[in-house]
Amino acid sequence: MNDREKRQSIIDACLRMNALGINQGTSGNISLRHEAGLLITPTSIPYEAMQPEQIVYMGLDGSFDPAQRPSSEWRFHLDILRARPDVNAVVHAHPTYCTILAIMGLEIPPIHYMVACAGGDTIRCAPYATFGTQELSAHAVKALDGRLACLLEHHGMIAVGPSLAKAMWLAVEVETLARQYHGCLQIGKPPLLPTEEIENVRTRMAGYGHAEK
Ligand code: 13P
Repeated sequence: MNDREKRQSIIDACLRMNALGINQGTSGNISLRHEAGLLITPTSIPYEAMQPEQIVYMGLDGSFDPAQRPSSEWRFHLDILRARPDVNAVVHAHPTYCTILAIMGLEIPPIHYMVACAGGDTIRCAPYATFGTQELSAHAVKALDGRLACLLEHHGMIAVGPSLAKAMWLAVEVETLARQYHGCLQIGKPPLLPTEEIENVRTRMAGYGHAEK
């Protein structure tokens, strides 16, 4: 993908987040590794009106064209991409069920084998810090350690991946798991899969389907 195609793919993913119902308004933001830095959504521009040239290029030192304004969450996008060479795309949104659990300070335990898709036997919930702060970024990077998704207390969710398509897929899957967990909690305390089974599933998943080589 060239520069413009990458910018358009970010806008398309933003529009899809809202069409899928995993985000509201402009509360989400997306970044994609690009050249020696990253491309990130601008702050507070409705996705329907967003133009490829409004996507902000940011260096890995956090520098950007002062005529542009990156997402207020650029710190965690930058810090995740700096800390994780395995990650090329970061998707942040406020999906309703993820946010319900995050408000309650709950992580997603191994209720279903698909929890393994996020890289471990839980989907952690990062402690609260004000949006856009370095403190929130530090909490997010820690909650994502060895994982591909986390919740953010009183805030929302982050999903990451080796490609934007995979990070988007995971964002939808995590919201599905959050919805399932929320449903279980209406009935009682759900039984959980053992950690060893999640590890077993992770091994099987590595060889599942038509995985890219
Ligand atoms: P933007 O600054 O990307 O518009 O995001 C707002 C927000 O929801 C921060 O979490």
